[in-house]
Amino acid sequence: MATQTGDLVEPPDTERHYGEGMEQFHHPRSVCAGRREGSAPTPRRRRLLDGLSGRVLEIGAGDGVKLICYPSSVEEIALVEPDPFLRAAAGGVAGSIAVPVQILAGDLGSLPVADASCDAVVCSLVLCCARRLQETLREVRRVLAPGGELRFYEHQRSANPVVALAESLVTPVWSRAAGGCHPARDILAGLRQAGFVVESVDRFAFRHFDHVLGVARPA
Ligand SMILES: C[S@@+](CC[C@H](N)C(=O)[O-])C[C@H]1O[C@@H](n2cnc3c(N)ncnc32)[C@H](O)[C@@H]1O
Repeated sequence: MATQTGDLVEPPDTERHYGEGMEQFHHPRSVCAGRREGSAPTPRRRRLLDGLSGRVLEIGAGDGVKLICYPSSVEEIALVEPDPFLRAAAGGVAGSIAVPVQILAGDLGSLPVADASCDAVVCSLVLCCARRLQETLREVRRVLAPGGELRFYEHQRSANPVVALAESLVTPVWSRAAGGCHPARDILAGLRQAGFVVESVDRFAFRHFDHVLGVARPA
């Protein structure tokens, strides 16, 4: 039976969905494992992309499984992914959709995209991996065209101080084992510090971890 979390309907147990949250935090290549077994992108990933249009940049795109969820109003998609194995996997998916896709090697700290060239930037379960969050968010601001938006689906430092402390304590080990993930990172505070206005956000617990899904724009 489907379960409700916030306004999001969880996939039923019988249906396999791809990378639903923190379970992905092993080597980044593990993001491919679900797809090889025939899983589908999660409903949250679909919702993340609802209503997008124009030129969209997805950062830390992994194996590109979300590509099939982009609405037809999107004219061009650029993916940035540092891992060659995942870029190759994304290339396979890109060939199956109508929207042109550019797959770029690159790093969150220096996006290989021109200033003000994107109508939207998309990230899911990526900002936790940024070595320097503020540097990445500066890059996101740089590439967004005037009026552009950031769509984010990220895990978020717990609102419970005891859990947040535990997240901080495990970070040194967790980060090494889990593709650079910083579980205690306060993404919403980071966005505001970087000069974004968080226009909408849905905050929910999923498998014991807080997550946030929303829209932010440069102030
Ligand atoms: C947990 S996976 C999420 C993948 C995908 N966005 C998704 O929703 O399934 C984190 C992704 O961030 C990428 N990543 C990690 N560090 C990065 C960096 N410094 N620059 C760009 N991408 C990075 C990883 O290669 C991986 O594809």
